[in-house]
Amino acid sequence: MLIDTHCHLDKNDYDNMEEIINNMKDNIMIASGVDLETSLNVINLCNKYKNIYGTIGLHPTELDKYDLSVMKKIEENLTNPKIVGIGEIGLDYHYGRENEKFQKEVFIYQLELARKYKLPVVIHSRDAALDTLKILRQYKDLKIDMHCFSYSLDIAKELIKLNVKLGIGGVLTFKNSKKLKEIVEYIDLKDILLETDSPYLSPEPLRGQKNQPINVKYVSKKIAEIKNISEEEVEKITSLNAISQFDLR
Ligand code: NI
Repeated sequence: MLIDTHCHLDKNDYDNMEEIINNMKDNIMIASGVDLETSLNVINLCNKYKNIYGTIGLHPTELDKYDLSVMKKIEENLTNPKIVGIGEIGLDYHYGRENEKFQKEVFIYQLELARKYKLPVVIHSRDAALDTLKILRQYKDLKIDMHCFSYSLDIAKELIKLNVKLGIGGVLTFKNSKKLKEIVEYIDLKDILLETDSPYLSPEPLRGQKNQPINVKYVSKKIAEIKNISEEEVEKITSLNAISQFDLR
């Protein structure tokens, strides 16, 4: 069994959602929201499909939608048993740092929610490694997934010390991802969660096409190749990691 620990199953992204979900057979998906609308969509999918779980939250590039009523609605849904975490949330300085303070406030607000409801978090962090690390050091009690990990080996080591899991996706299969391949070779399989970040970041040999959760198998295959172990072992260990990380039942 494979578990795609992070994907977006937005109505606007797929013409035939049923088919995308059927392609996963009995494998499991954790769909992620980025704002209130996509979070409510995640909840609908969770209620409809047994093998879909969800995380909900406000993404750092969607902060123009921040409103106390939005945060309240997100909070109201955190007790849904299929909602297994808060995400994706975090810091993104890629487009500039002028709202850095606000980003940190909303990030911390949601980390506090995670603490209050004893939920794991899925973190988006781009061009913001040190600030993310600094904040996460205050939340060692949380189960944290650093989704689409893209930083250095040094940052990976610091995160793993905090018991953070690294979300590894299609980027690993790209020809130019030498650094990430070295990191995956170095770190223990127990610290890895498989993901696709569908519909983005399709793995080789499908790079450039619209991604979907079943393509998580290419990520698993690449990890097996890099670590020189069987695909079965990668599937088994990473699925156990995901089940324990998100307390799936
Ligand atoms: Ni994502």
